[in-house]
Amino acid sequence: MQVYGLIGNPVGHSLSPPMHEAGYGSLGIDARYVTFEPAPDDAAEAIEGAGALGVAGLNVTVPFKQDALEAVDPAPLAERIGAVNTVDFAPVREGDADRPRGHNTDAAGVKRAFSHHDVEIDGRDAVVVGAGGAGRAAAFALADAGAAVHVANRTAERAVELAEAVPGATGAGLDDLGDRVAAADVLVNATSVGMDDPDATPVPAEHLHGDLAVLDAVYAPIETRLLREAADAGATTVDGAWMLLFQGVEAFEIWTGADAPVEAMNAALRAELE
Ligand code: ATR
Repeated sequence: MQVYGLIGNPVGHSLSPPMHEAGYGSLGIDARYVTFEPAPDDAAEAIEGAGALGVAGLNVTVPFKQDALEAVDPAPLAERIGAVNTVDFAPVREGDADRPRGHNTDAAGVKRAFSHHDVEIDGRDAVVVGAGGAGRAAAFALADAGAAVHVANRTAERAVELAEAVPGATGAGLDDLGDRVAAADVLVNATSVGMDDPDATPVPAEHLHGDLAVLDAVYAPIETRLLREAADAGATTVDGAWMLLFQGVEAFEIWTGADAPVEAMNAALRAELE
């Protein structure tokens, strides 16, 4: 039996175990997915320890994603994003490397969530609101897929700094966010706005329009005010569970080498969210 897992603090609420285990069950893979809660400073020790115990793969979440970078051999995209959310121990187990490989599948989560909804990214204008971990992954994902990206963030300096690292991107505060969204084809909310307060929205409804595709990284509630108002404006909407699903799908495929059973994993995730 293979063991996969997640390190985070806290991880009690994680939806990843049922999602991944539905995938193993569907493909007849003999594996379990468990959660671990190391102390906040112990990312490197936890990753090393998991490798020593024969854990096959680890997901990494808050607050360990940046520190995990130091404990792995990062794939180029993870290095550019500056965060690792998926660790693959196979290169060490097979004697090909001293350190496990570190990936960032949040970017693929954004890209695959859009493509699953037939949203074209190449050549489009995209606005990413937020410049934290989710914003960084979204900005690189969209730029690499051929979009012209604008990063808008409450703290303008963070947006400018991120935009400097992302090919062709611009960055600013929230002052001209409305105009940017009005002119955009693609919008990602990568802030936590709408999570604690379901009446809050990062983009006023007046700027939303029918030619927009909107991904909200917030998945609780599953229908945020932003998505409700975007749907009312005739936009294509993609809820945060799709991003969560596809970052997991991408990790599953890195670890197992198999095509993930997307339907089964999605059904388990949606059942858990309900
Ligand atoms: P994550 O890794 O999940 O993206 P994070 O690094 O804490 O989390 O980033 C949270 C993002 O949400 C940031 O872009 C933050 O803006 P600041 O950089 O200005 O802090 C944004 N954010 C959080 N609360 C917000 C609010 N009430 N209004 C606007 N942006 C907010």
